Amino acid sequence: MSTQRKIILAGNWKMHKTVKESIELAQCVEEKLSKLPITVLLFPPFTAIYAVSKSLKWHIGIGGQNMYYEKEGAFTGEISPVMLKEAGAEYVIIGHSERRNIFNEKDQLLNKKVHSAIENALNVVLCVGEKLEERKSNRTKEVIEREIKEDLQGIKKQDLEKIIIAYEPIWAIGTGITAKPEEVAEVHRFIRTLLDDMFGKGAGSNMTILYGGSIKPNNIKSLADMNEIDGGLVGGASLQCESFYTIGKILSEVKA
Ligand code: PGA
Repeated sequence: MSTQRKIILAGNWKMHKTVKESIELAQCVEEKLSKLPITVLLFPPFTAIYAVSKSLKWHIGIGGQNMYYEKEGAFTGEISPVMLKEAGAEYVIIGHSERRNIFNEKDQLLNKKVHSAIENALNVVLCVGEKLEERKSNRTKEVIEREIKEDLQGIKKQDLEKIIIAYEPIWAIGTGITAKPEEVAEVHRFIRTLLDDMFGKGAGSNMTILYGGSIKPNNIKSLADMNEIDGGLVGGASLQCESFYTIGKILSEVKA
């Protein structure tokens, strides 16, 4: 495995946790996961980013779950990369399937967000993934290829180190159904080949690629066993300190 790849456990809290609850959870995560040899990222709701980042002593990367691409302006209800950074975020999730499907965000918009995040010195977690009907009709690779090509259009090779890709098959998110580790590894390999084609040799093998979709303490081991999988983006199971910790512990035991 390339030395540039990191082992990452990321918690996407989605629209959960008040400020008070966020601080409590983040402090518990800090206490329990700080000794593990992995990178831990937390994505609280916008309202809690500042308070969470101020309340932590050990380095956990904090990020926003979304952002708009402009720095400021008349964009009611949106958050800019500058605001995220000032609040303490170093990362931002772009293209989560809930943004794509519920809020109708298209690849062209997501590409602008990726550029803007990088210009504003935020690291990007770019989510890609296919719907169930797309997988059933054998179109997984076609969908992933379109998303990666369009979302990363115009990105420079040297900026790839600021990007993490999360492969999240939509049918596995919040459903309790996890993709089979071999199925995930196959898509991760495909993404690496695609990145080599787009950016030149080595781009793929250096990319940190996470899996996301119903990761739980009882399924992380078989996913982590796959060399292709560099960690996880966890939704539901990141809302409780104990389950998030157990996932982190197993991930670091397998990868250490
Ligand atoms: P889940 O969410 O772990 O609850 O399936 C994953 C995600 O949406 O990032």
